[in-house]
Amino acid sequence: MKLQKLSVAFKILSFNLIIIILLQVESLTPANNDYAFFDINSLGSSTTAATTPALKPDGGSVKNRSSTSRKPYSSCEVWSRACSKEVMELARRPETVDWLKSVRRTIHQNPELAFQEFETSRLLRAELDRMEIGYKYPLAKTGIRAWVGTGGPPFVALRADMDALPIQEAVEWEYKSKVAGKMHACGHDAHVAMLIGAAKILKSREHLLKGTVILIFQPAEEAGNGAKRMMADGALEDVEAIFAVHVSHEHPTGVIGSRPGPLLAGCGFFHAVISGKKGGAANPHRSVDPVLAASAAVISLQGLVSREANPLDSQVVSVTYFNGGDHLDMIPDAVVIGGTLRAFSNTSFYQLLQRIEEVIVEQARVFRCSATVDFFDKGNTVYPPTVNDEDMYEHVKKVAIDLLGPMNYRVVPPMMGAEDFSFYSEVVPAAFYYIGIKNETLGSIHTGHSPYFMIDEDVLPVGAAVHATIAERFLNEYGQGWNNWL
Ligand SMILES: *[C@@H]1O[C@H](CO)[C@@H](O)[C@H](O)[C@H]1NC(C)=O
Ligand SMILES: *[C@@H]1O[C@H](CO)[C@@H](O)[C@H](O)[C@H]1NC(C)=O
Ligand SMILES: *[C@@H]1O[C@H](CO)[C@@H](O)[C@H](O)[C@H]1NC(C)=O
Ligand SMILES: [Zn+2]
Ligand SMILES: [Zn+2]
Repeated sequence: MKLQKLSVAFKILSFNLIIIILLQVESLTPANNDYAFFDINSLGSSTTAATTPALKPDGGSVKNRSSTSRKPYSSCEVWSRACSKEVMELARRPETVDWLKSVRRTIHQNPELAFQEFETSRLLRAELDRMEIGYKYPLAKTGIRAWVGTGGPPFVALRADMDALPIQEAVEWEYKSKVAGKMHACGHDAHVAMLIGAAKILKSREHLLKGTVILIFQPAEEAGNGAKRMMADGALEDVEAIFAVHVSHEHPTGVIGSRPGPLLAGCGFFHAVISGKKGGAANPHRSVDPVLAASAAVISLQGLVSREANPLDSQVVSVTYFNGGDHLDMIPDAVVIGGTLRAFSNTSFYQLLQRIEEVIVEQARVFRCSATVDFFDKGNTVYPPTVNDEDMYEHVKKVAIDLLGPMNYRVVPPMMGAEDFSFYSEVVPAAFYYIGIKNETLGSIHTGHSPYFMIDEDVLPVGAAVHATIAERFLNEYGQGWNNWL
């Protein structure tokens, strides 16, 4: 995710607490409240399985529930509490948790920028080979498309991004970035670990899958538009729906948050050159002043959001630089200005792009200047809004609540950050969601793109389990008529 300020406050309604209490009471009876109230704090503890109260399987198909012997899986065609518990147990096996942490730490220590994720990709392919999972490589230079399941339809995709940021890590810890000036400051190292963890879970449940899960490891989310290149190289071939997760310091570790409809803004950047005619400042009439023209353009740009946009349709235009001249007594030839725009609907976004260009060009003309506006090759730096499909959103919500309990799920407000996941969501039904990494004891409280950014690694097995369950249940429930996906 890029350039975001995740400054969101959640409201936990007392009303929700009442529901939670009711559900907990009811779940003692063999009702249909199938929540496996998963205790996130117990992750990675080898005693967990033994101390977790045994949950009653629904269909009676699961027996011999000893935590040491490998037990037969429930069929899970109709998802039950037993299925959630099986997936969580796979994810939080101590050896799995250790492996997830070591994958994440290796990648954290060796961050690679957009389209340079060669070693990250190599490590992932080695893990896929070890698990005997097939894949296609390379897509988009370093990307991987792996698959688990029957090899036939339906196909559901899970996506992780692999790139790091040009930031010097300021966190002093054992697995600090070994590369000066590069850091996984957006948590993509965790995204990769959670997806490879999901691969392991899905592989061990492959006989239960009613279709194929496509695992997409994508380069260049932060810069360079990896998602688009992945799609051009066939990442979404046959895919019916796609899901992705992003870590968030706004929520406690393992808490899932999302919302239906627009979740993240469309994002674009502009750079304008306003040209006049150089001249001595004492005789302004002999020059054409681009400083005045650019100033007028900056002021007029403020009117796009305040006067032209629907106040209920959030948009942003920010001018972030204004450069020109270097002499106290000379009117310069040209001034350059630049900045960014955000909007939540596709229509507003593209309309804003057009109006920014018109306003700058026309305001320059008022002062006899000329202007050119560059959007940095719209194909490569413009990101449309990320819009969650209603059905896919409901699927994520249901999976999260069944796995983690309703207290670990939150509806979140839209945010002004942007994601190149939006390109996938323009093509197939999609849902993007957050998973919390906030732990005040550890100090994982910093926003993405901060040099102090860190995660609570206890998130890794939770994310792997959520990913895997979203995919397995999608395949089970696909086409069963409880939605309008087709
Ligand atoms: C449970 O374990 C016992 C003893 O190992 C075995 O005889 C029985 O068949 C098992 N039941 C199932 C359903 O696997
Ligand atoms: C958004 O608008 C652009 C330009 O009008 C168009 O090319 C694109 O297909 C639209 N996307 C969606 C999801 O409507
Ligand atoms: C935060 O991390 C510490 C150390 O790993 C752990 O003991 C604690 O339970 C965590 N707290 C939460 C709220 O997850
Ligand atoms: Zn980011
Ligand atoms: Zn990110």
